[in-house]
Amino acid sequence: MGKAKRIRILTAGGDCPGINAAIRGVGKTAIVKYGWEVIGIASGFSGLINNEYEVLTEEALSGILTLGGTILGTSREKPFKKNGPLGSEKPKLIKKHYKEMGLDCIVCIGGNGTQKTAALLANEGLNVIGIPKTIDNDVFGTDFTFGFDSAVNIATEAIDRLHTTANSHKRIMVIELMGHTAGWLTLYAGMAGGGDVILIPELGYDLKVINRYLLDRAYKKKPYSIVVVAEGIEKPESEASAGTYVAKMIENGTRIETRTTILGYVQRGGSPSPMDRILATRFGSHATQLIAEEKYGRMVINKNNQTASIPLKEVGGKLSLVPKDHSLINKARALDICMGDFCDY
Ligand code: F6P
Repeated sequence: MGKAKRIRILTAGGDCPGINAAIRGVGKTAIVKYGWEVIGIASGFSGLINNEYEVLTEEALSGILTLGGTILGTSREKPFKKNGPLGSEKPKLIKKHYKEMGLDCIVCIGGNGTQKTAALLANEGLNVIGIPKTIDNDVFGTDFTFGFDSAVNIATEAIDRLHTTANSHKRIMVIELMGHTAGWLTLYAGMAGGGDVILIPELGYDLKVINRYLLDRAYKKKPYSIVVVAEGIEKPESEASAGTYVAKMIENGTRIETRTTILGYVQRGGSPSPMDRILATRFGSHATQLIAEEKYGRMVINKNNQTASIPLKEVGGKLSLVPKDHSLINKARALDICMGDFCDY
């Protein structure tokens, strides 16, 4: 079993469903299987800098599998950025607390920014393991992050609900989804929700193509249309929202009454889907196994439905975007769904 270890867990960046399931996966495996001490850090890297923590007992980890958000709290603090009163002191403070507390490893649960920071801490000589999470599914090296499936479910249900009201009023409904600069969430929810037009940042779009497509649908007596827009698509700087901008341009171009829904943070809230609970539990437990084997400086991944890991230094600063020739894009085109860039008539 090896010597008893003392590990820390933190959650950083935007929250998402499944984080608590991952904390539980790490913690329960560490406590029950290995008999280690598990410490939760408050508010992401801020808590690591300020040494704000609480010991997580088995009882504290009970009942959190289904809970949304993060029991530890989160922040967008980047300790290697020389901002704020502490400036470049922040990594030094983290190292100091790490040594004084006699830690064996820090588990960093987060998105791209978190994994980049985790890699920098590993460079500083700390034992670190990364676990990727985000509704955006844009962390490099893993097929899926937890949080994504739950967000796809929430967004799909929202699109489903738009169909009936769109039909009643014979309107075009534009819905803007999150995803940062990646189109994964919009592509999956757009397809699952039966979107007629799906716009993702990776493909670009031409409003003339979209309007012609929507007018063609109206000409074919299709009573309404659903347009699913990723928040990260290109838009004029003066426009606050991609969805509102696209809706305005569609209404101007087609003269069909158009309405906008910006789904926002609803996509990040609430209980994780069963698939996310399972993925997060697998990730968490695998992270603890890596620590037991003293394989540090790695991030847990999901590849071809298997849990594995890759070196953190391979992840930092890279993004996983939707490939332009992704099979789901090709299937969308085959179904005459307009992806915004071109359409066959
Ligand atoms: O990364 C998750 C995400 O929800 C993105 O989809 C979105 O662009 C961003 O976070 C919003 O960030 P914040 O919580 O800082 O408003």
